Amino acid sequence: MDPESKHIILVGLPGSGKSTLGKTLAKAFELPFRDLDAAIVEKLGMSIPDVFKERGEAYFREQEALCLREILEAEEKVVLATGGGAPCFHQNMELILSRGLSIYLAVPYVELAKRLLAQDVATRPLLEGIQEPEALAVLLENKFAHRIPYYQKAGLHFSNTSNASMEELIKEVQAAGNNL
Ligand code: S3P
Repeated sequence: MDPESKHIILVGLPGSGKSTLGKTLAKAFELPFRDLDAAIVEKLGMSIPDVFKERGEAYFREQEALCLREILEAEEKVVLATGGGAPCFHQNMELILSRGLSIYLAVPYVELAKRLLAQDVATRPLLEGIQEPEALAVLLENKFAHRIPYYQKAGLHFSNTSNASMEELIKEVQAAGNNL
C-alpha cells in the first residue's frame, strides 16, 4: 500500500484486538501507530474511567469525536485504533469512511468476554464489575449488538487473529490501499 494514501483505522468491540493488530499493521506499513483512547487521556490529563466517572459518557463522546477529527484531519498518515464506541457516535463512522481504509475486527462475544476478563476490566468502565465469561458474553451482546451495523460499514472485515491470516490481512490491506 502507498503509505502516503490514507489512514488505516481499526474498529470493533472492546477486546477485539484493535491495538494489537494496529501495532502490527503500523510496523508492516511503516506508519505511526495512534490509539484514540490514549489521545483522549493525553488531551484531558485524566484516565478514561475518571472521565466517565467525573464528567459522564456524553462528555467523553464529545472529546472522543474531537480527538478523532484531530487525528484523521491531520497531514500525518497513521494507523489508528479507535475505542469500541467511537464509530457509533457523532457521525464518526462517516468520518472514518471518508478519511481512510477501515478494518472491522469481528470476534465472537464469548471470545471477547474471555479476553476482557483476562485483562483488567476496571480500565473499561462500561464493563466494570462482571466476573464470569458467560455473564459477560450475554452483557456484551445485549449492550453492543446495535454497534455491529456501524462496524460492518468498514472497508475490510477480519475475523481471525492467527499469524497466517495476519499475513493475509496485510496483503488485503495492501490491495485495498492500491485501489484507494
Ligand atoms: C468504550 C471502549 C473503550 C473506551 C471507553 C468506551 C466503549 O475502548 O473507549 O471505555 O464504549 O466500548 P476499547 O474498545 O479500546 O476498550
